[in-house]
Amino acid sequence: MIEELKRLVEQAAQEINQAARQHDLMQLKSQYLGKKSAVNGFLQRLVELPTAERPGFGKIVNEAKQKLEALLKSRLETLKDAEYTQELQSERLDLSMPGRRFERGVLHPITQTWRDIEDLFLGLGFQVADGPDVEDEYHNFDALNTPQDHPARDLSDTFYIKDDVLLRTHTSPVQVRVMENTKPPIKIICPGRTYRNDNDATHSPCFHQVEALVVDEGISLADLRDMLNHFAQELFGPEIAVRIRPHFFPFTEPSAEMDMVCPKCLGSGCSLCKETGWLELGGAGIVDPNVFEIVGIDGEKYTGYAFGLGIDRIAMLRFGITDMRLLFGNDVRFLRQFR
Ligand code: PHE
Repeated sequence: MIEELKRLVEQAAQEINQAARQHDLMQLKSQYLGKKSAVNGFLQRLVELPTAERPGFGKIVNEAKQKLEALLKSRLETLKDAEYTQELQSERLDLSMPGRRFERGVLHPITQTWRDIEDLFLGLGFQVADGPDVEDEYHNFDALNTPQDHPARDLSDTFYIKDDVLLRTHTSPVQVRVMENTKPPIKIICPGRTYRNDNDATHSPCFHQVEALVVDEGISLADLRDMLNHFAQELFGPEIAVRIRPHFFPFTEPSAEMDMVCPKCLGSGCSLCKETGWLELGGAGIVDPNVFEIVGIDGEKYTGYAFGLGIDRIAMLRFGITDMRLLFGNDVRFLRQFR
């Protein structure tokens, strides 16, 4: 029996040392040391021995059990160590690996232009004013001296939301809002979104304007001209002059349209300026005394000028974009070019 037990222990020891996973060890444990295990079987067989030999053999069986238990324990530790090392290996960080590149976004050409224009005017002492995109008829038309039957009020141009609520067709209502709340001197610009029912290569239903308003004592057309020249030259270069042509706006008197020398051909005529040498920039004029009266500014004491420029048009000129719809198409391949 002693021999039998020895062989069993040897076999168990071998299997334990070869076990590759913790799970296998648990099985071996129950197989060799469990209640119904072969080793325990020897204890049950004690009765087969003569009484005198029983205590001696019992001791041997218990020693065998202790030996196997110790073996199991040390093998378990070895396996745990190995697993831990493996885990560490597999999770090892290679700090020399190159990092993942973050894609940097690009500011939309309109945003770039908008910010550059803002910077330019801030540097000249202007403040930036803001007003709502959803405007009332009063601020968009009435207070700007625009009569009921003016064609700009036509449904085909203006997006109406309700009877007297609309999407502002220009940034000029912000002039009114500022003058209602501010005493002269006033020196503001207002960049913003504007809306008209127009859609082709040079018109978008949603577009951007920047309005400027200067009100003080002794402001004249010469100041307006100066400012426009300065603006065009800062943005497009020293050879770019601005001219103003007589025009009509209900809220300015006199009114003018402004053109600038075509930055592509510098005035000699090309396809961009349709061979005229000039490109249209926007509208301008001297604030109409009627508007001063409506907002409660003393038109005897103060004069002012205002102008409104198309930001999209300026962005197109700066970046050589020929179709305005590209600006609003959200095609990243197009937008990525403006780094
Ligand atoms: N608001 C006018 C337009 O959108 C432009 C303008 C602004 C004209 C200021 C005169 C003074 O057409």
